Order: sequence, then C-alpha cells, then structure tokens
Amino acid sequence: MPSSQAEPFKIKMVEKIKKIPRKERKKALKSAGYNLFTLSSDEVYIDLLTDSGTGAMSDEQWAALMRGDESYAGSRSYSRLKETSREIFGHRYILPAHQGRGAERVLFPLLISEGQYVINNMHFDTTKAHVELAGGKAKNFVTPEAYDTSNYHPFKGNFDLEKLEKFLVETPRNKIAFIIVTATCNSAGGQPVSLENIKAVYNLAKQHNLRVVFDAARYAENAYFIKKREEGQSHRSLSEITREMFQYADAFTMSAKKDAIVNMGGLIGIKDDEELYNQVRSRLVPLEGFPTYGGLSGRDMEALSTGLQEGLDYDYLQYRTGQVEYLADKLRENDVPVQYPPGGHAVFVDAAEMLPQIPYHQFPAQALANALYLEAGVRGVEIGSFLLGRDPETGEQLQSPLELLRLAIPRRVYTNNHLDVVAEALINIKEYAGELSGFKFTYEPEVLRHFTARLKPVQQR
Ligand code: F0G
Repeated sequence: MPSSQAEPFKIKMVEKIKKIPRKERKKALKSAGYNLFTLSSDEVYIDLLTDSGTGAMSDEQWAALMRGDESYAGSRSYSRLKETSREIFGHRYILPAHQGRGAERVLFPLLISEGQYVINNMHFDTTKAHVELAGGKAKNFVTPEAYDTSNYHPFKGNFDLEKLEKFLVETPRNKIAFIIVTATCNSAGGQPVSLENIKAVYNLAKQHNLRVVFDAARYAENAYFIKKREEGQSHRSLSEITREMFQYADAFTMSAKKDAIVNMGGLIGIKDDEELYNQVRSRLVPLEGFPTYGGLSGRDMEALSTGLQEGLDYDYLQYRTGQVEYLADKLRENDVPVQYPPGGHAVFVDAAEMLPQIPYHQFPAQALANALYLEAGVRGVEIGSFLLGRDPETGEQLQSPLELLRLAIPRRVYTNNHLDVVAEALINIKEYAGELSGFKFTYEPEVLRHFTARLKPVQQR
C-alpha cells in the first residue's frame, strides 16, 4: 500500500471537538466513578469508545434520507432494503430491526430451548446476554492463536475446528441450539474468520444437523481480510466473497451500526427457511414493529441500503483497515504492546503486558483506559476481566484470558492526525505505566455491570 495514501473522500461538514484541561479531566473521571461510559461526550476529546453508530454518513446516505417512505405498511424504503440486502447477501428473507441486539432478541428465543448450548467463535457481550436471556449457555471456540497477542496469524477469529468437532461429537444433539459465527470476531480483537474456516464450520454443523447463524456486524471488513490474506482469494471481488460467506449461514443477525455505516439500524436475514421466517416475522411485530419497518423509520432504511453498498467499496475498506493498521503500527514501533495483526475496526492494547503490576481483579485495562483519558482526553474501553464479570454460581471474579484496552475507530470520522494524538499519549503513558494502580468497586450492578459500575483507585496516586 502506498505510504502516502489519503482518505478516499473529502469533508463537507465538520463537528467541533475540544480538549478540556487536565484538571477538569481529573475531576470528570472522579465524578464518573472512573467508568468512562459515565463521562459526558463533551468531556471527551477523541472518542474511541466504539465504532458502533458513530460513523459519518456520506452525501449519498444523507440524500437517501430524503427519499424515505414513512408508510407504516408496505414502505417503498423497505422494498429497497430487502432488494439490496438480497443482492449482497443472497438470503431470501430480510427483516429490519432497530439494532443488532433487537435482531438477536427476536431470533434467538425461537432457536434456543432451556439449557441448550450456543456455540460461537467468541460471543459479543450483548449477544451472550441474549443467549442467556433465552435460556441458553454461551460457549466459545475461538482458535488459541487469538490469545497470543504478539504472534502473527492472519485469521485469529477462526474457530478451533478440532475442539469444535470434539464437542459436537461428544454432546447430544438436543443439548446444542445452533452455531454463531461472529465475523469479524469483535471480542478477539476485531479479528477475521477465513472463508475456509467458515465453510468448515458450516459443513460440521450440517453433519450434526445444526443451523449456522452469522453475527454479521462487520461482514465487509471480514470479506476484505479474506481477499487480502487468504490464499486463492485475491482475484475475487468483495461482493463475490461476501456472497460466498453468507452461503455458509442459514440466517444472520446484523448490527448495521458498524460496516453499514448508519447511526442506528439492524437486520435479520434468513437464507431459505420459510417456516422460520414466518415465526420471526410474527415475533418482530410486538418486539420491534411491523415487518416492513422493524423499529426503523423509512429514511433510516434508505440510508442503510446505501450504507450496505458503500461499506463494501474496496477503496473505502483499504483506507478503513489502513487507518487501524496505521495506529497499531505506530504503537508497535514504540513498544506499546497491541493485538497483532490489528483487526478491522479497532486497535487492542495489551494492558496485562503494559501494566503487569496490576492483577486481573483490579482491572489493568480499566486502569489504562483511565490513564489514557487523563493523559489526552481520549476514551477507549476495557475488554477484559471488568467486562467479563463474575462466575454466576460461585460469585467469584472471573479472569479474562486477555486484558485489552480497545480503541475502536469510528468510520470516516477521525484523521490520522487524531490517531497521532492517541499514539503519542500511549507512548507517554509507557514511561510511567509502572506507577499506575488498579481499581475496585464502590457500586457493582449484577447484570452487564461494566456499563454502570462505579470504581475507585486501589491506591490514590
Ligand atoms: N454483535 C457484535 C459482534 C457486536 O460488536 C455488537 C455491538 C452487537 C452484536 C450488538 O449490536 O449494538 O447494534 O445492538 N457492538 C458494539 C461495540 C456495541 O461497541 O462493539 P448493537
């Protein structure tokens, strides 16, 4: 890739951001209970909390909004969304939802009986929550390569096929609900799954008479990595690869807030199972809305149709993944340990390695997130033991295999100059990382605690 590659767009509208002084950042952290979810966005300078719903829509998407048909039933905008999605994914039945978890809430209870396992390369947290709410037990089968942050592997989102097969052989069929393939695999670092691996999972599933459901939020970034990294795929178009990926899924749920570059939206796709489609459609009405809007306004569906196509543009994806790589390389060159190679949407800093003095139960990646905010007003998010939570039976704090600080990069929002600020801050923190201390709870909610918990430092600095 040429080193002077620039953004494949020019900027038509800007939004002011401001860095509040360090003294105020310190105060803001304290009053937020050292939980960055609780900060007001005005207190944040560069916001890398998530790439979800935070992207910048294009002029084409804004123009599409004006064509929204707000009819309750039979909206023209739904027809366009259905046709576009059918063409891209090859699934016959398409229904809208307000976001990814809305889609999960509608679909999962139809596929899970009490106590059944749901298999995944790695569950995203709200996906796991919806599996459990439907009575299922979430089980992860990601390749062990994912846990070695410094070792190059092109597809760290892959399933460990041997382990998966063993589990499928040893577990009675009625104890397993279905298999989810998360592409890219967010919780493993936005890491892609290879086409070969997706196909192998599908074949195993079919041998055992199981459905495969894609968690397809980052379908386009996954397709791009297949084209760039998988043998025999470089000559194929991203559309061809995407079509083939989705052939190996019986259904999908999608948070469209990521690769489809809308601020709100989701989809459910069903390849050809008419009976399942009818059930999903019926559940959609009370939970999300009538099947031709499913929680979205007509204009949202228009922006989504356009976004689904733009998300697969080669130049855009090269820039997009290139920007993530830019930040990761800058950090690596300066000995800040990151998940390598970087994934599609975020750089994951290895906080366990950077802050070895902080034990997992004092949340090293949360300490790093706090330090980064204090240093430069940059907000990232902890993906480690703080997020993982406690063993539901013993109440003991679980130890996450990785303690990561995720720096998720919104789409088409920040320039590499912003990322330079982030890199510089982390490089500075390295100098005093040994002095940072961990955190303990002052308030710990029972469910999805990391969103609303309050903390305090174990030792005041
Ligand atoms: N699946 C994956 C892989 C996700 O990353 C997310 C959301 C969801 C499902 C749920 O979708 O937010 O539209 O309801 N991930 C966001 C993130 C929140 O920050 O990574 P949603």
